[in-house]
Amino acid sequence: EEIVFAGVGKTRQELTYALQLGVAWINVESSGELARIAQLAQALGVHPRLALRLNPDVRADTHPHIATGHAAAKFGLPIAEAEQILSAYRPERDPYRIEGVHVHIGSQLHSVERTVEALQAALSVIERFPFLRALNLGGGFPISYAGEPVPSIEAFAAAVRPLLAGRQVRLLLEPGRYIAAENGLLLVEVQYVKHTNSGTFYIVDGGMTELIRPALYSAIHDILPLRQSDAEPTLAHVVGPICESADVLRTHVTLPPLHEGDLLAVLQAGAYGAVMGSTYNARPLPSEIVLEGDSWRVARRRQTWQDLLREEDG
Ligand SMILES: Cc1ncc(COP(=O)(O)O)c(C=O)c1O
Repeated sequence: EEIVFAGVGKTRQELTYALQLGVAWINVESSGELARIAQLAQALGVHPRLALRLNPDVRADTHPHIATGHAAAKFGLPIAEAEQILSAYRPERDPYRIEGVHVHIGSQLHSVERTVEALQAALSVIERFPFLRALNLGGGFPISYAGEPVPSIEAFAAAVRPLLAGRQVRLLLEPGRYIAAENGLLLVEVQYVKHTNSGTFYIVDGGMTELIRPALYSAIHDILPLRQSDAEPTLAHVVGPICESADVLRTHVTLPPLHEGDLLAVLQAGAYGAVMGSTYNARPLPSEIVLEGDSWRVARRRQTWQDLLREEDG
């Protein structure tokens, strides 16, 4: 009832599952996907509700890896192609209902202007095809990782509200990071302290396999030592154990002198953290602990080496 199924490369198997389950929306990203949905829906005798994901060709103000709404991106339908689909759509003939449009121009958006442009593009499509009654504006609402200024959620609301006023359009949102990021941290333990000509390296037991954002996006996460210290802080690099030079949690961070066994909290790891984890370098996935009030529980047990080998054959 509440599930929106999004993704640029939905397989037949995934679509069949979604169609059998009867999810609320499937967001269609290409003509090929629409044809595939039509075929599967006909075979299954279902009549799914669809939104067309538009590529409004706006360049989101964010890291290029997470900008998804410009023409060179793989995501969504160019407006002209979406309008062709909508012109050709015949509700009485087609085995699906196209009832909405979707835009998601990127994640960790540093300005509201591009979102407004995307919304304007989506609204112009809705105006041409008034049977479209829903507009999914995606996610992208940012958090401040290391004190950098980002637009507030209220700034996004203030910017889009006037454009939506008076319209009979249902607004859907898909915030991810904004909800989850601050609610998780990665706990790591210092294994070795290495002094080199390039500075001090704290080599810890977690890295890009647990939190890939610094390696993938040059992201900066706050790092806090768990033990308070009065010692003079110094500049250091906190790095993981993996055999990649990109396996860095944070460079040039000011920390008190640390020793083997000290614990560090890498903050804002609740979004795009564990879910982007991998077992590269034969590293079992760590356990996940949920804190509820004063109590805690293991929400996911630590993987073992046996777990890693279990699926292997021969
Ligand atoms: C289609 C879609 N909607 C929403 C989101 C959530 O984005 P954010 O975490 O930036 O809010 C994503 C993230 O990849 C996405 O691909």
